[in-house]
Amino acid sequence: MIRVTRGGIDRPWIGRLSYSGYARRHARSSQQNPVRPVISDHRILLTGGAGFIGSALAARLVDRNKVVVFDSGHRDSLRDSPIAGHSNLAVIKGDVLDASAVRSAMRGCDLVVHLAAIAGVDTVLQMPVTTMQVNIIGTYNVLEAARESEHEINRLVDFSTSEVFGSYAYKVREADLTSLGAVGEARWTYAVSKLATEHMAHNYHRQFGLPAVSIRPFNIYGPGQVGEGAIHRFIVQALRGEDLTIHNDGSQIRAWCYVDDMINGILCCLTRPEAVGHAFNIGNPRSVVTIYNLARDIVRLTGSRSVLRHVHWDNADVELRIPNIEKARQLLGYEPAVDLDEGLAKTIEWYRSRVVV
Ligand SMILES: NC(=O)c1ccc[n+]([C@@H]2O[C@H](COP(=O)([O-])OP(=O)(O)OC[C@H]3O[C@@H](n4cnc5c(N)ncnc54)[C@H](O)[C@@H]3O)[C@@H](O)[C@H]2O)c1
Repeated sequence: MIRVTRGGIDRPWIGRLSYSGYARRHARSSQQNPVRPVISDHRILLTGGAGFIGSALAARLVDRNKVVVFDSGHRDSLRDSPIAGHSNLAVIKGDVLDASAVRSAMRGCDLVVHLAAIAGVDTVLQMPVTTMQVNIIGTYNVLEAARESEHEINRLVDFSTSEVFGSYAYKVREADLTSLGAVGEARWTYAVSKLATEHMAHNYHRQFGLPAVSIRPFNIYGPGQVGEGAIHRFIVQALRGEDLTIHNDGSQIRAWCYVDDMINGILCCLTRPEAVGHAFNIGNPRSVVTIYNLARDIVRLTGSRSVLRHVHWDNADVELRIPNIEKARQLLGYEPAVDLDEGLAKTIEWYRSRVVV
């Protein structure tokens, strides 16, 4: 059963047209009362479900559904999560490059969220070939398993990236041109691998009718992040009293999206019929800041005595990235609700209870 709640009141699924009308009428108030879809009584496969976003998604789903996490253990946010050991949670250690393991993990599932990937600029720089293998062949294995599945797959959500827009991306729309970047820059290896998966997911829908959706996340942050990310890194450095290291002059601009908003976006993609066959920018265009000001804010909010240190960064960077989320607003009723100051406060609180200083 799939329901959508707003302001804490469960609303029955009321159909495509009437729901869209509802979303439009309430667009202005949705920042206060974001759409929070509820999914019940499904068996849901999360590849990469032990990661940052996957474990937050599992936490939202696990009380009302059977959740199967399929993850290689490259990263593990689940270990410290309150849902570790939940009776509705099955964790399978496996590699998306192993097609038969993916097929067997998918058995009996009708919803699939494919998050498994090699992500994070530093990791990609260290293993660019593995990045391409895991991201491209891994996604192919997941799509093939879904196509061949004996159990009907009602929705498959694939994870692309906002990196597909390249170095300058101001209020970019899904239909805007993507950028392939220069060969030899590891950052663009990641972007190209993700763009390939987006084409693949879209074409599995087109050619085989698979109900696939792609998400392009824009700088997600929040409690539970164990991989790379400026907010994660700055908070840990500030709490430890270490220098906050800023690449070059810190004038790079990002729009930051709190993880709860990302989860709402994923749930919209899993539940809304209009999502099928589309890609969506999921982010928060209101929470925009330069990297330098972000570092300063984190020092202030943590009460740290850390200093900011600029370090020379010789690799390709993204200078400006802000999403246009109008398509997700219109088709999904998606609206980010947590602005940067509130999200940073929650995130700092979470790390403060865990970081050994
Ligand atoms: N966090 C962001 O801001 C952001 C931005 C753009 C795109 N994304 C995409 O969103 C998805 C989730 O990101 P995240 O931030 O949670 O990253 P993450 O690194 O925390 O999670 C990815 C998970 O995939 C798993 N994994 C890696 N290789 C695997 C393999 N071969 N087989 C099985 N599992 C494997 C890792 O162990 C990890 O748990 C990824 O696809 C990422 O590329 C994230």
